[in-house]
Amino acid sequence: MTTLTLRRPDDWHLHLRDGAMLAAVLPETTRHFARAIIMPNLVPPVVRGTDAAAYRARILAALPKGSPFTPLMTLYLTEDTDPDDVAAAHASGLITAVKLYPAGATTNSASGVTDFDKVRGVLDRMAEIGLPLCIHGEVTSPEVDIFDREQVFLDTVLDPLRRATPGLTVTLEHITTSHGIDYVSDATGKIAGTITTHHLMINRNHILAGGIRPHYYCLPVAKRNTHQQALRRAATSGNPRFFLGTDSAPHTDPNKLSACGCAGCFTATNTLSCLAHVFEEEEALDRLEGFTSLHGPAHYGLPPNDATLTLTKQASPVPYPTQIATDEGPVTLFDPGHPLFWQVT
Ligand code: NCD
Ligand code: ZN
Repeated sequence: MTTLTLRRPDDWHLHLRDGAMLAAVLPETTRHFARAIIMPNLVPPVVRGTDAAAYRARILAALPKGSPFTPLMTLYLTEDTDPDDVAAAHASGLITAVKLYPAGATTNSASGVTDFDKVRGVLDRMAEIGLPLCIHGEVTSPEVDIFDREQVFLDTVLDPLRRATPGLTVTLEHITTSHGIDYVSDATGKIAGTITTHHLMINRNHILAGGIRPHYYCLPVAKRNTHQQALRRAATSGNPRFFLGTDSAPHTDPNKLSACGCAGCFTATNTLSCLAHVFEEEEALDRLEGFTSLHGPAHYGLPPNDATLTLTKQASPVPYPTQIATDEGPVTLFDPGHPLFWQVT
């Protein structure tokens, strides 16, 4: 197979940032994607409906001329979030989901949740109105090893939370372990999981063996090879509970290449080339469209896109820039470590 036409993809987990960074990275996503769930972890975070409306307006103002891209907005759940504000933002069509960050789990998550009982009212209301909860699934206790934080979260936080609020639609985001895959596969109720591009392509050896590679450091951190294989099996299985959320998360090189570097891989530009490569390796190119363009809309109750996108396999490697220039500094593009031959044409 050398050409592949898909319904236009959506990205169900994306960081666009704000200001100069937003202006520079937005076209990298809108070139290929019709819609994206926009993460609310700005500084300060997007907490209230008014914040989401203002952020949405800034994104629309930064769109390349004539771009039909639709940002799907989210609110950042805090212990002070007002259920009425969330319900109003949902009713007006402004937001598509609410995002739960355990406090301190990742970049700009200081306002996240520590006491899950304090957000019970909001979660119950979301279940009532059918508004999905996107979850960063890692515990944050310092005594839990960073490579175990997703697995521990499933038993100690996610399962109790879902039992306490049955009926809540949940997206377990950026799954990195076989435990997360098994949890989502086996659960009853409305749950799905997103998988990133980079977690399909790297494991922890890529970050740490033969020198430390800050551009592969993201959260949740990539796990061992056996977990990577489980992610690849799930993504290419055709199971509608798994779909793409790139978690493309731009940071400037000075912020990545530092004694205390930021977490995040920037994959917006070459994600579709990477995914076609992975799906071809797994002999599952016929399942790529489900992963990029069908399962996500079904989970969020939205129609798939009518427009299409075509990938063509080239004889020589597709050229990609090493970096994207921004007025805040260069952002290094994810490098899978080998050439890519599938090109969006
Ligand atoms: C994200 C970011 O930079 O905002 N970083 C990351 O490593 N994925 C935050 C997140 O989604 O955890
Ligand atoms: Zn993210």
